[in-house]
Amino acid sequence: MKHKTLGQVYTPEWIVNEILDSVNYKGIKILNKKIIDPACGDGAFLKIIIDRLIDEAIKEKKTIEEIKHILENNIYGIEIDKGEYFKCLDNLNKIVKVKLNTDLNISWRIFNENSLFKYKEYIGFFDFVVGNPPYIRIHNLDKDTRKILKKEFMFSQGTIDIYLSFFELGFKLLNKKGILGYITPNSYLHNSSYINFRKYLKNNKAVKILVDFKANKIFKNFSTYTAITIINFFEDKDYFEYKELVNGKIQKVNEIKYKDLNDKDWSFASKEDMNFIKKLYSNTNKKVSDFFDVQYGFATLRDNIFIGDIEEEKEDLVLFNKHWIEKKILYKVVKGSTYKGKSSEIKYIIFPYKKLGNRFIPIPEEELKTNYPNTYNYLLKNKEELLKRDIDKGASWYEFGRSQGIQTCHNEKIVISTLMKDDIKYYFLDKDTFVYSGIFIIKKKKEYDWKIIETILSSEEFKRYIKITGKDFSGGYKSITTKQIKNYPTKELNNQKNLFNY
Ligand SMILES: C[S@@+](CC[C@H](N)C(=O)[O-])C[C@H]1O[C@@H](n2cnc3c(N)ncnc32)[C@H](O)[C@@H]1O
Repeated sequence: MKHKTLGQVYTPEWIVNEILDSVNYKGIKILNKKIIDPACGDGAFLKIIIDRLIDEAIKEKKTIEEIKHILENNIYGIEIDKGEYFKCLDNLNKIVKVKLNTDLNISWRIFNENSLFKYKEYIGFFDFVVGNPPYIRIHNLDKDTRKILKKEFMFSQGTIDIYLSFFELGFKLLNKKGILGYITPNSYLHNSSYINFRKYLKNNKAVKILVDFKANKIFKNFSTYTAITIINFFEDKDYFEYKELVNGKIQKVNEIKYKDLNDKDWSFASKEDMNFIKKLYSNTNKKVSDFFDVQYGFATLRDNIFIGDIEEEKEDLVLFNKHWIEKKILYKVVKGSTYKGKSSEIKYIIFPYKKLGNRFIPIPEEELKTNYPNTYNYLLKNKEELLKRDIDKGASWYEFGRSQGIQTCHNEKIVISTLMKDDIKYYFLDKDTFVYSGIFIIKKKKEYDWKIIETILSSEEFKRYIKITGKDFSGGYKSITTKQIKNYPTKELNNQKNLFNY
C-alpha cells in the first residue's frame, strides 16, 4: 500500500454499506442508475455495488446479456495506481463469476487514470458518487498535482489535503438529482483552512447526513479521525441529520439547522449536550484563562535521562540514576498524568535552566561544564541518545525537548492529569515542585482565589463538559486539554471569594 503518496487506505465493508444505504443505493431503481467511485482502489465500494446490482437484476429476472449491459454501462471507477486497478478488475470479475456462475467477459468502465483530469469527461453524468477518496496532505503531493489543484479547484486555496478536491470533483460529476457519499477525514469540520468549504456547504444547504466518528478509529492501523458526509444539491431542507457512533452503531443524535451553524467550527453533539454547552456559556463572558495560566508540564523527550530518584547524598552531590551529580541542579518533579498526591511519587529532574531577568534560559554549555561538571559529564555520556530526540528548533542537545512549562514552573500550582475517567482529581504543589506529562495551573495574579478553579474542577458541569468535548481513549478515558480548561466559562469576579454557584 502506498500510504503517504497515494492515500491508500481500505474501507471496511460495514462503512461501504452504511454509505450505500445513506445515499439510497438500493432497490429496483439502481438498475438504471449510474454510479462512480473516483478513487476505487481494489474495489471496496464497487464490489458491494455490483453485488447489490446483480441481486436486483436477478430479482427482476434480467437475462445474462441484460446484466452484462447494465454492468458495462452503469458502473464506473477511476484508480491511478496500476496494481490497485488490476486488483479491482480481478475482484469484480470474481464476484460476477460467483454470482452468475459464468465468465461474462465484461468491458468494465474502470479507468486506470488520474481523477483530477478524467472527471471532466463526465460532468453532470452520475446519479451517485461514492467512495473513500485519497487523503494526502498537500506537501506530500507532487508539483504538477499541486499546480492543477491551485488552478482548477475552487477550494484549493489554503487547502491542505487532496480529499477536498475529490469533494469538489464529485460535486461536478453529479447530475441534478445526484447524491454523493464519502468517508473522509473529519478535519474539514474543524480546521480553519476549510472555512470556505464549510460556508459553501452551508450556503447550498448541501449536507443531508453527517456522521462524525470523532475519536473512534475506523481504519485499522491508521489514526485519521473520519466522518461520513452525504450530499445533494436538490433537496432544500433547513437541517441535516447528525449521527455518531453510539455503542458501536451509527445513530442519529441530533438535527442541525443550517442557520445555527458556526462557520468557525462544526463540532456537534446530541441535542441535550449542545444545549448544555450553550447554557454554560450564556451567562458569562469570562473564561478560566482570564485568571489562570493552564499549561502542559515539561516534555524532556527522554524522561529516563532527566528524571530519577536520589539514592544517596554526599555533601553537594547526590547519587542520581547511578551517577553522582550536583544536587543544586535537581528539582522535585511529579508525573502529572498519574500523580495521586503521595510524597512517595515525587522524583527529581535535572533542570538545566537559569533565570536571566524574568525569563529562564538554558544554562550555557560552558557554564554547565564549569559549574555542574558532574551533571555535564552525566549528560555527555547520554549525548548520543539525547541527540536522537526531535527537539524544538534552536534548542541545545542537553535541554528538554520542548520548552513548555519552563517559564512558569516556579509557581505554586495545581496539577491534573490529561485523562479523565469518572472523576477529575487535582492536587496542589509548591513552587519548587515541577510537573512533567500532565497539566498544571497557576494564578495569573496573586490575589485570585484558588477556589475559582477548584470549584470548576470538582463540578459535575465541568466533568460533563469534558465528556462532551474531550476525545475518547481506550478504557473509557477522555482526554483533557489545556485549551478546554482555558476556554471554560467562569463568572465575573465581584468578590474574589465564593465566586461560583453553578
Ligand atoms: C483511501 S484509498 C480508497 C480505496 C478504496 N476506494 C477503498 O475504499 O478501499 C484512495 C485511493 O485513491 C487512489 N488515488 C490517489 N490519487 C488518485 C487520483 N488522483 N486519481 C485516482 N485515484 C487516486 C489511491 O491509489 C487509492 O487507491
